[in-house]
Amino acid sequence: MSRYELKGRHALITGASSGIGKELSRCFAKEGAHCVLAAHPSEMSALAALAAELEKSHGIKTWFFGVDLAVEYGPIKLYDEVKAHVPVIDVLVNNAGMMVYGDFHQVDITRQLTLVHLNIRALMLLMHMFLKDMSDRCDGRILNVSSVSAFQPTVHHAVYGASKAFVQSLSEAVHEEVRRSGVMVCTLNPSYTNTPLIKGGDFPERLWWYAVSGLSDPAVIAQKGIRALKKGKSLYIPGLKNWIIHILLQRISSRKLINYISYYALKRRL
Ligand SMILES: NC(=O)c1ccc[n+]([C@@H]2O[C@H](COP(=O)([O-])OP(=O)(O)OC[C@H]3O[C@@H](n4cnc5c(N)ncnc54)[C@H](OP(=O)(O)O)[C@@H]3O)[C@@H](O)[C@H]2O)c1
Repeated sequence: MSRYELKGRHALITGASSGIGKELSRCFAKEGAHCVLAAHPSEMSALAALAAELEKSHGIKTWFFGVDLAVEYGPIKLYDEVKAHVPVIDVLVNNAGMMVYGDFHQVDITRQLTLVHLNIRALMLLMHMFLKDMSDRCDGRILNVSSVSAFQPTVHHAVYGASKAFVQSLSEAVHEEVRRSGVMVCTLNPSYTNTPLIKGGDFPERLWWYAVSGLSDPAVIAQKGIRALKKGKSLYIPGLKNWIIHILLQRISSRKLINYISYYALKRRL
């Protein structure tokens, strides 16, 4: 299969204001793709600064939009606003996401529902709208930023892992439906990565699991993710160790044992 070249393409990246999304945007710009940056409305100044940086460093065009994707009409608002300015989106990166840490029954249900609206509903709606356009053109790429959390329950942040399992199952099924038409749906599945998602919020500073997984650099994750996207990989886990832990060991271990280990490995250390 030939590589999907990004030069001159238009890429829409959600959650572009920080972390993995910001680094993915830098990678697209480096490849010569025009960048359509989206984030929460509170991040307009961060988006403006990133847009200026990318235009100056790589001579590409940029647009930026502040839309809350967790509210009911957020995804359709973003779609309409983007299409009014950039009629053809070649690559959609569904990266915006949030984390809620704590035991399910103890964490505020409103925050967990907001997570469902952002990590699941918004991703699904954006994917549906842009995929129709791509399918009509028989061309395009969707990169859904999933996680290694998609492959097993994530004890103490149960709804987050469940949201990524949804993203994974949806993405792989739709990939198979559309790949023969020239459109690819790919997932990027990082392990814990050093971004505001797990730093500075209520996510624990210390976990036993960090001794096994370490903490990835978002710039490295983004570079590897772009490489996998260009190759059209349906699922990409950065790092051989992560692949062994989250795919190979899952297949040969009992689910009960994995959940038992997760209880301790993902528990807040005092
Ligand atoms: N960090 C990790 O360990 C890790 C591991 C695997 C997968 N991931 C996935 O990687 C993706 C990016 O996360 P990250 O780690 O880079 O975290 P991050 O730096 O917190 O980025 C999340 C992005 O989503 C945006 N966002 C949050 N709520 C939003 C809303 N309601 N509407 C629109 N945009 C919203 C954020 O904007 P604001 O800055 O305004 O909130 C930010 O731009 C997520 O899907 C996450 O699940 C992360």
